[in-house]
Amino acid sequence: MTHTSEAVAAKYRLDYQAPHYLIDTIDLDVQLGEEKTRVTAISRVRRNGEHNEPLRLDGDEMELITVAIDGRPFGDYRLLPGGLELANLPAEFVLTIETDIDPAANTALEGLYKSGDAFCTQCEAEGFRRITYYLDRPDILARYSTRITADKGKYPYLLSNGNKVASGDLEGGRHFVQWQDPFPKPSYLFALVAGDFDVLRDHYVTRSGREVALEIFVDKGNLERADFAMESLKKAMKWDEERFGLEYDLDIYMIVAVDFFNMGAMENKGLNIFNSKFVLANPATATDLDYHGIERVIAHEYFHNWTGNRVTCRDWFQLSLKEGLTVFRDQEFSSDVGSRPVNRINNVRTIRGPQFAEDAGPMAHPIRPDVVIEMNNFYTLTVYEKGSEVIRMMHTLLGEEKFQAGMRLYFERHDGTAATCEDFVCAMEEASGVDLGRFRRWYSQSGTPELTVCDEFDAASGEYRLHVSQHTPATLDQAEKLPLHIPLAIELYDQDGNVLPLQRAGQPLHSVLNVLESEQTFVFDGLTQRPVLSLLSDFSAPVRLDYPYTEETLAFLIAHARNEFARWDAAQTLINQAVMTNAASVGRGEGIAFSPTLLSAFVAVLGDETLEPAFKAELLTLPGEGTLLELFDTADIDAIHTVRRALQQSLAVAFGSRLDELHEALKAERYENNHVAAARRALRNVLLGYRVARDGDKADDLVAAQADQSDNMTDLLAALQVANGFLLPCRTRLLAQFEAKWAHDGLVLDNWLRLVGTKPADDVLAEIRGAMAHPTFSIRNPNRVRALIGSFAAGNPVQFHAKDGSGYRFLADQLVVLNEVNPQTASRMITPLIQFKRLDEGRKALVRAELERLAALPNLAADLFEKIDKALKM
Ligand code: TRP
Ligand code: ZN
Repeated sequence: MTHTSEAVAAKYRLDYQAPHYLIDTIDLDVQLGEEKTRVTAISRVRRNGEHNEPLRLDGDEMELITVAIDGRPFGDYRLLPGGLELANLPAEFVLTIETDIDPAANTALEGLYKSGDAFCTQCEAEGFRRITYYLDRPDILARYSTRITADKGKYPYLLSNGNKVASGDLEGGRHFVQWQDPFPKPSYLFALVAGDFDVLRDHYVTRSGREVALEIFVDKGNLERADFAMESLKKAMKWDEERFGLEYDLDIYMIVAVDFFNMGAMENKGLNIFNSKFVLANPATATDLDYHGIERVIAHEYFHNWTGNRVTCRDWFQLSLKEGLTVFRDQEFSSDVGSRPVNRINNVRTIRGPQFAEDAGPMAHPIRPDVVIEMNNFYTLTVYEKGSEVIRMMHTLLGEEKFQAGMRLYFERHDGTAATCEDFVCAMEEASGVDLGRFRRWYSQSGTPELTVCDEFDAASGEYRLHVSQHTPATLDQAEKLPLHIPLAIELYDQDGNVLPLQRAGQPLHSVLNVLESEQTFVFDGLTQRPVLSLLSDFSAPVRLDYPYTEETLAFLIAHARNEFARWDAAQTLINQAVMTNAASVGRGEGIAFSPTLLSAFVAVLGDETLEPAFKAELLTLPGEGTLLELFDTADIDAIHTVRRALQQSLAVAFGSRLDELHEALKAERYENNHVAAARRALRNVLLGYRVARDGDKADDLVAAQADQSDNMTDLLAALQVANGFLLPCRTRLLAQFEAKWAHDGLVLDNWLRLVGTKPADDVLAEIRGAMAHPTFSIRNPNRVRALIGSFAAGNPVQFHAKDGSGYRFLADQLVVLNEVNPQTASRMITPLIQFKRLDEGRKALVRAELERLAALPNLAADLFEKIDKALKM
C-alpha cells in the first residue's frame, strides 16, 4: 500500500508502447469473504507481434496462490515489486491465476473493499491490479464474465457489469450470480458489488424503442431518498439522445450508493458506483446545491458510457480525452435543463479560483500531462475543468453543428477502441475544416495565459483598434511557453448600451477574435464614437485578463452588457479592484473606503426587478477569500478578510431598507422543490447574509427564527452558515441542535462538520478535535474527513494560515495518519499546504517545515511524495 520514496518512479507520456500481449477474454470467479476473498482469473492471452518479451502483469496487495498455463501448473514466473513476470510463453494461451485478497483490511478504498456491510470495488485508475494480476492498462480491452459467490443471508445482491446470465443456491448458505458483459472493456471499468440493499426500480425506453431496466441500490431504509437520482438519470438519458444523438447500449443500468468512496462516482460499465452523497436526497436532508450535485454527477457518469467507455483512453496521460469531454457534456446538460448563466458563472468560479491556483502551484500540468508518478494525483481540476474549457473553446470555434459532426466522426472512427486526445482533435478538425494546428498547444502547455488588452479610438477615421498581447508565465513543470490559439469573444456598445456591429471596410466581423500571436491588433471601423468594450463574453477562454477598466465602464457593463456572464464578470472585476486597493491601504495602516460608483452599481442590481432571482443572487455573492487571495502576488490574508467583511457591510448599508423589504418578500409560504423556488431561496439567503453583515448581533433573532422555522435543509443551513460566519449568539444552540438531530446520519452530519471546520475563531482547532471524537466521525471515511478537516484547510483561510503555524501543523498531523489509512484522500487534502506561493516569508517557512516533516515519513505514499517533492522545489 505504501512506498518508500526511493521506490517511486515517474512515467512519461512519450514512452508509450503498444502492449506486448493482448487479452481477449477474462473469466473471473470471486469467492467473497471479509478477510479472505479468493479470486480465480482465467484469461485468453495472445502475443502482440513477434517478440520474446516476458509477460509482465501488474499486481499489488495480494497473495499469489497458483499460476497455470493451458490448465497445467506453471513455474516459470517471478514475483516482482508491483507485479508478476512470466517467461517462455506460447503465442496464445489460457492463463489461470489464483489470488487471495483481504477486503476488510483495505482502507485505501481502491480495489475490492468493504463499505459498511457491503463489498464494492474501485478500479480506476489502477485498482484492478489489487484484485488479480493483470495487464492493468486501459488499452487492453477484454470481454469479462464474472461469477460471484457469497453468503446469501448477508449478501443477497451480487452485482457486476453487463447482463445477469446465471444464478443459484449453493451449500453452506451461499449462492452465486454470474454476469457477462458483451462489450470489451479496460480493467478500470470492472465493478463488483455484494450486499443487502433497498432497490429503486424503473425503466427507460430509448429513442429506438429498446427498454432499459434502471436500478438504484441504496442502504436499507434509504429508498425514499433515491427518487431524485432516478429522475436525473432518465433526464440525462433523454438529453444525450436529443443533443448528442447517443443512446444507451445495454438492457440494464445499475447505480449503487456507498458511504465509503474516494471521489464522487465511477462510470463502471452498466454498474456505476456512487458516493452516497451524489445519490441520496430529500428536502429534509439535502440542500438545493446537493440536488444540483446529484443531477450533475448522475449525468456525468451516464455520459461516460459513450465518452469514456465506448471510446476509452489509450493510456492515462490521455485522461482528459474522457474527462474534459464528459465534464463539457455534463455542463451543457446542466445548462440546458437549468440556468445557463448561473451554471457558467459557477464553472468559471472553479476555474478562476482553484484551477488557476493549481496552474500557478507545484502541481501545474498540461490537461494532457507529460509525466506522472501516481496516476491518482492527476484527477485534477486541470484535467477535468480546464479540459472541459478546452473542449468548449473548440465548440466555440466550430459552432454546435460542426462540433456535432466532429463527435460523429470521432465515434465512427474510434468506437470500441482506446483513443488519444490527438484522435479527438483530428476528428474535430477533419469534420469541420477548421484549422486546429496551433490550438493543439492547449493540450501540451500548462499554466494560465495572461491577455493584456489596450485600445484606441481614432475619431477622424472612425477606427477602433484593439491591441492584444498574450503571455503565459513559466510554471514549475515548464519554463518555456508558446503563444496559444485563444478565442476572444468581444462586444462593443454605444453610450446608451446598444450593441454595435463589428465591421471593417464594409465587411461584418465575427465577435470571436482569433488571438494566435504574442501580439496582435484587431481593427474595427464605421464607429462614430469611442465604443464601450466587453471582453471574454461567456469566458470564451480560460485566461487571466488585464484591461484598464474604469469603475464607470464596469458599472455600465453590469447594467447593459447583453451577455449575462459579462454582467457578472464586470461586477466581479469591480469588486476585485476595490479589494486590491483597500487591502493595500489596510497594509499601510490606512482606512477602507468604497466608491459611490461601486456602491450604486450594486444598489441598482438589488433593485433591478428584471433580473432572474438566481442570477441576481450570483451578482450579489461576493468572491470568497480563497478566490480573492489569487489576485495578489503576496497576499495579506487578514487584510483580505477585513476588506471583504467591510465591503459586505458597506453594501448592506447602501442597500438600505430595500434590503429588508426584498428579503421579507422572498419568504415562501412553503417549500417547493423546483428551479424557481430554489432561485428565490438562493437570493433570499444571500440577502440574509447582508442583513447580518449590517446589523450584527441585532440580527440574531432573525437568523434563529429562520433556522427554527425552516422546512427544508437549504434554509436551515443558510441560517446556520450565517450564525457560524458571524459568530452570532444563536450559533452554539443551533449547532448543538443540528448535531443532536442528525448525529446518526453521516451525510447530513457532514454539514455540521463543515460548520465546525469553518468556524472563524481562534478556538477552531479545539472544536475540530472535539468533532473528531464524535461517534459518527471516522478517519476512514473520506466524506467525514473532507467535511471537517478539508473545510478547515480549504475553507477557513484566516485560521488555517494562523501566524503561529498551528493550522499547518494540525493538517500535517492528520496527513501523517491519512498517509497510512488512505493515501488518495491524504493527497487530495494536502492541496492547501502545497499552494503557498502567495504567502509571506514567515508563513512559507512554517509550511515548508511541515512539508519536510511529512517528506521524512518512513512509509510516505507515492501520492503524497509526488506533491511534496514538487512543492519543496517551488
Ligand atoms: N472516472 C470517475 C469520474 O470521472 C472518477 C474517478 C477516477 C474515481 N478515479 C476514481 C472515482 C477513484 C472514485 C475513485 O467520474
Ligand atoms: Zn468522469
